[in-house]
Amino acid sequence: MDIHSLTDLIKRRRSIFPSTFTDEKISQADIETILENAQWAPNHKNTEPWRFKVFTGSALEGLADFMSNRYTETISPEKYNENKKKRISKKILSSSHVIALCVRRDPEERIPEWEELAALSCAVQNMYLSCTAMNLGCYWSSPGMIIGKNAFPYLEEGERCYGLMYLGVTVPNLPSKAVREDIKTKVAWVK
Ligand SMILES: Cc1cc2nc3c(=O)[nH]c(=O)nc-3n(C[C@H](O)[C@H](O)[C@H](O)COP(=O)(O)O)c2cc1C
Repeated sequence: MDIHSLTDLIKRRRSIFPSTFTDEKISQADIETILENAQWAPNHKNTEPWRFKVFTGSALEGLADFMSNRYTETISPEKYNENKKKRISKKILSSSHVIALCVRRDPEERIPEWEELAALSCAVQNMYLSCTAMNLGCYWSSPGMIIGKNAFPYLEEGERCYGLMYLGVTVPNLPSKAVREDIKTKVAWVK
């Protein structure tokens, strides 16, 4: 791949939401490619801290029930919104797969926690770019109600969840309003 193709892929990558997903399912082989590419992210001291819980098929119904119940449990009665609860469930059930994005901290804590999270983020970018290259839709959602200690029951000892990636098949060439500021506004040259 040359740099022009890579730049094009990076700029074409978008967060694509489940409301645009078709009923088609992503193949097992494509999901495995996405996960394999995640695995090649940079990570300090080779801790490979990312952990993924892949929900598909009837497991999506269990996750949808869990998330909508969690919403009811954690929202204050004044803020409770029945439509929001339905949307939480619908997003999951409209997806082909949902991947919980988790970290297992190095047991010896040789590096700061933020570095493990940074490595997860690099892995997620690999997943995003893989989806773009395969014309699949995905996005990283970070609902506060599942982030934090004991907030997500699908974890093993020492793991924390930092959000869900919703994945699905989309129609090609969705309109996009994505913009970025000029990089010049964020760079200081020190010469
Ligand atoms: C760590 C992280 C958490 C995110 N959490 C949410 C979220 O909870 N809800 C949401 O709609 N988008 C979420 N996003 C996606 C952003 O909304 C999206 O990246 C942003 O709008 C830019 O759009 P783009 O990804 O198409 O460039 C998250 C992105 C990141 C990197």
